[in-house]
Amino acid sequence: MKYVYVHWKHERAEEPSHLWYEIADDTFQNRTIEFYADGSVGFALRGEAADGSDDLEIGGTRNSTEGFPNVEEINSDREFEALEITAAEFNQQWRKALASPRHMTGFFTIAIDGPAGAGKGTLARRLADHYRLNLLDTGLTYRAVAHALIQHALPLDNVSAAETAARQVDMAKLDRAVLSAHAIGEAASKVAVYPTVRRILVEKQRAFARTPPGAVLDGRDIGTVVCPDADIKLYVTASAEVRAKRRLAEIESIGGTANFAEILADIVRRDERDMGRADSPLKPAADAHLLDTSEMAIEAAFLAAMAIVDDALARRNKA
Ligand code: DC
Repeated sequence: MKYVYVHWKHERAEEPSHLWYEIADDTFQNRTIEFYADGSVGFALRGEAADGSDDLEIGGTRNSTEGFPNVEEINSDREFEALEITAAEFNQQWRKALASPRHMTGFFTIAIDGPAGAGKGTLARRLADHYRLNLLDTGLTYRAVAHALIQHALPLDNVSAAETAARQVDMAKLDRAVLSAHAIGEAASKVAVYPTVRRILVEKQRAFARTPPGAVLDGRDIGTVVCPDADIKLYVTASAEVRAKRRLAEIESIGGTANFAEILADIVRRDERDMGRADSPLKPAADAHLLDTSEMAIEAAFLAAMAIVDDALARRNKA
């Protein structure tokens, strides 16, 4: 582990505050930079090269200005001073930074909805990392109910068993590795039509969202039902064909084989069930920002989402 203190000396007073940018060199972890409205800010960072090398290149940022048109040239090396420091010094800087009154304070909720395979999960993870919010993939809660029924060889339309399973869902123990199987997703979409099951899970999801400092939640009904007062609502979508192509590529990337037409049919069927159910169907909230990722890489979607969030934060800070 190498500890680095970066002082960022940019001087533009018009900078909105409370923005977090990553040093985007992919070989580093925990690489967050914060800068503030007074234009005088630097920040403490911890850089650890994933490849174990000692080669730190703190000036090597990219993407920082994208989605943030008023800022130019913040990539410029000369605006940085990077010093290698001891762990104790780092911890001191880090604590100071976290205690800063300009650190993102208060409560913040980002609601992300959209159909299966649109990229909302990845986007939610990136946003939660970036803004240091808790993260909940609410699909996992429905998957956990389906999984419990399957494990006990119970039919998916056994509503009282599904309610019991929903009550037993432990939000701290949602095991993505177990729950991510395709068949469980299908089954989850079936148990998700029952209003009583939904009510039990929605209560748990709301309690999660209320936990400081707030959360990014992704699902189907977050902006409409679970967190109707979310600070930011995003509706992430992509054409069924693009989603099917992505899923096929994903399967092939891990050495599997699949049939495009079958995947597409699956996706269309799942969309119909999720959008067509009577209780909390998948649809954009009236005040959601729409992000169509059909022709957009995840990085571009992240930058677009980040611009929306930064804008809301800047407005909130001015208020
Ligand atoms: O996002 P996912 O594929 O893990 O979701 C699985 C199913 O769970 C989805 O097809 C419908 C249901 N679901 C829901 O009804 N409401 C949510 N907020 C999240 C998921």
